[in-house]
Amino acid sequence: MQFQSKKDKILIIDFGSQVTKLIARRVRELGVYSEITTPKELKYLRKFKDIKGIILSGGPSTVTTNKFQTISKDIFKKKIPILGICYGLQLIVKIFGGKVKSSKKRREFGRASLSKKTPSLIIKNFLNKEKIVWMSHEDAVTRLPKNFKKIASTKSSEFTIIENSEEKIYGLQFHPEVTHTENGRQIFKNFLFLICKIKNKWNVAFQKKKLLKQIKDIVKKEKVICALSGGVDSSVVALLINKAIKRNLICIMVDTGLMRKNEFKQTYKIFKYKYKLNVKLIDASKLFLRKLKNISNPERKRKIIGNLFIKVFEKESKKYKNLKFLAQGTLYPDIIESKSSSGSKTSKIKSHHNVGGLPKKMNLKLVEPLKDLFKDEVRILGKSLGLVNSINYKHPFPGPGLAIRILGNITSERVKILQEADYIFINELTKCNLYNKIWQAYAALLPIKTVGVMGDARTYENICLLRAVTSEDGMTADYFSFPKNFIDNIANKIINNVKGINRVVYDITSKPPSTIELE
Ligand code: XMP
Repeated sequence: MQFQSKKDKILIIDFGSQVTKLIARRVRELGVYSEITTPKELKYLRKFKDIKGIILSGGPSTVTTNKFQTISKDIFKKKIPILGICYGLQLIVKIFGGKVKSSKKRREFGRASLSKKTPSLIIKNFLNKEKIVWMSHEDAVTRLPKNFKKIASTKSSEFTIIENSEEKIYGLQFHPEVTHTENGRQIFKNFLFLICKIKNKWNVAFQKKKLLKQIKDIVKKEKVICALSGGVDSSVVALLINKAIKRNLICIMVDTGLMRKNEFKQTYKIFKYKYKLNVKLIDASKLFLRKLKNISNPERKRKIIGNLFIKVFEKESKKYKNLKFLAQGTLYPDIIESKSSSGSKTSKIKSHHNVGGLPKKMNLKLVEPLKDLFKDEVRILGKSLGLVNSINYKHPFPGPGLAIRILGNITSERVKILQEADYIFINELTKCNLYNKIWQAYAALLPIKTVGVMGDARTYENICLLRAVTSEDGMTADYFSFPKNFIDNIANKIINNVKGINRVVYDITSKPPSTIELE
């Protein structure tokens, strides 16, 4: 299902940087709609009339070899302001006849001190004399093209900010989109409002009205079904669609028995009685546990759960006649991740949702009203739809649930032990006002037992691992530094209250090299 394209936007061309999504978010945070495209997709783009500015992202390619990722020079003839970041800057220099070299002397990783050489609109209120910026480059510009000026330098890299003000082309060697660059937001403000002269009209509340109308226009009087997990995305989709088409939405909640303690039934009650949605709860917990018996391989667990979920969902949905649409909480990052920077227009959309590969056989049309939004925008939408905070600001939770947090074999006893430990951990985080400072937190059970001593008796019990991370989008993460008194207390609380655990450890790895989940 196609939702209308946006007027007045910033186009971001992705050359494969890890942080391209952050560029899009920074632009949207300033009230301007942004979209990410790939160099290949760009070839198919015919109309540029709504595009008020173009940003070229960073990326792993190098213009110092013969084969590098590029775009047509025509893009620079459209009188649209252009900002190149990192690789984007190097590509501009290459295309306009300057020189870029790979050089050990000039490469920079991490923080660097930037100093101003010439005034420019792009550095207004950003750079007076010196500033700390974040770098990640091997190649560097060694000669500017004709008509370009040097605006700022670092010790290692002379041409860190450059401009051709006549053509409104700007380049930055550093990354203003990452938080390590001090006040990087000002660079985007300058580019958007002083250079592109775009208005800050994008806002999610306005989007809500449009989405409701579009859903009504598309779905009309037909029936829509959705799988409701109680996570933010599926909850917002359910409330939004329900508001648009009322009782023609059917929500199915499949209880796999692998959710957090009490959470699923509470969510069911909220949607059934508070929001009065047409919601059906299927208790499939015994079935899931049976199929997972003696399965310890993480990938097999995921496959079994994904396939079983679809089976249960399909079976239930067959009970409803005249279904036409399936609603999904696909978000913009899911759509972006499905395209590689070298991907073509036809590149496949990865099924990345909690529900796993959704039932294609069911022959339903997809409704994906959140597919242009980032998670924080979905939360704004959720708030405006009256979604309770406990769901709207809930930490992400993986589709396979506790199954991938119980390392080794899954038994109903181990599920219960983990649920209790996790419940204590999450409650303590909330009580100590830490929950909202953390991107994701959970307890897990390791597949080994260790010896302990409780009272006068020797114990041989499970190890509980606690994980809490900060992150912007789950792609990279840092472990959360707990205040000492919190970490001192939590092990005691868990061991004293949960029979079956005699040791608690805290995971202090970041992502990379680890992942957020353990399996
Ligand atoms: P990793 O472990 O890859 O996780 O660092 C990144 C984020 O993705 C979540 N995750 C999943 N979400 N189905 C989901 O819906 C899954 O199979 C799945 N596996 C990981 C994870 O919780 C974290 O937020």
